[in-house]
Amino acid sequence: MPHSLFGRDLLTLDAYTPSQIADIISAAATLKAQLRRGEPHHLLAGKSLAMIFLKHSTRTRSSFEVGMYQLGGQAIFLSANEVQISRGETLADTARVLSRYTHAIMARVFAHSQIEELAEGASVPVINGLSDLSHPVQALADALTIKEKFGGTAGVRLAYFGDGNNMTNALLDIAPRIGMHISVATPPGYEPDPQVLASARAAAEQAETEVRFTHDPYEAAADADVLYSDVWVSMGQTDTEERIAAMRPYAITQKLLDSAPSRAIFLHCLPMHRGEEVDASVADGPRSFVFDQAENRLHIHKAILALLCSPEAERLV
Ligand code: CP
Ligand code: NVA
Repeated sequence: MPHSLFGRDLLTLDAYTPSQIADIISAAATLKAQLRRGEPHHLLAGKSLAMIFLKHSTRTRSSFEVGMYQLGGQAIFLSANEVQISRGETLADTARVLSRYTHAIMARVFAHSQIEELAEGASVPVINGLSDLSHPVQALADALTIKEKFGGTAGVRLAYFGDGNNMTNALLDIAPRIGMHISVATPPGYEPDPQVLASARAAAEQAETEVRFTHDPYEAAADADVLYSDVWVSMGQTDTEERIAAMRPYAITQKLLDSAPSRAIFLHCLPMHRGEEVDASVADGPRSFVFDQAENRLHIHKAILALLCSPEAERLV
């Protein structure tokens, strides 16, 4: 019997059980240790990953591509402008065709329905490399980072500041599933997706964790172990000036970090804008672990690829 993640799609984390999420994090830690020791782990030898990007990316593209190489496989980068999608070929047909050549498809899209359309057409696993609704692979890398920094994720308190966006939604999905408490501080009118919120609340009730909302950033910071932010203007958004004005009070300033417990660390999915959502002194200070967090994208993506595409990968867990 192959393990329970083999052949699965990864579109949002609310479709995954706490134990499946724990398996991905644990496999990533194993692969990270093996890489550090120089041990090859060619679990995907002879396999290929198609990567479709309808939006920009630095980390997601490069870490999936390098990850696939380190697993003994190959990644193909398909930029929206260069494939027939831009000339009207449907995402479902594209997925049907790519499924005949490759063993998984990772895509970065605009509407979440686009990743769902790819998944419907595909007969291989489809991985969400960011949609307007969610950024699950980033939240998994964040969970690995928090586990490393605090020795575990259970009982850790994460406070998110700024726009209630795809990142917030992914953190809301993962928090109760890894035993973490989450507080979200957004300006009025920029709250996260109501359906994600309802589902996070239900999961938190089961896990006996907290999901809190506030418009007061100091309230969210007061008992936080992790202060987390993201850009104020996500890819595809155009109301830049209005957003920046609304978000200003939710910046992670030095003063906000100083108001948090002394153990609190700063995380950000990157790219970050110093002087907007975070002060440079916080971003580049001793409590910032954003580059460890970015590195963990590589290890998490390898774990996802291995578990979804190899029936042998269970031994990593
Ligand atoms: N955090 C993240 O997904 O980075 P990229 O947009 O560079 O892929
Ligand atoms: N919320 C951001 C995340 C970037 C990684 C965006 O969607 O642009």
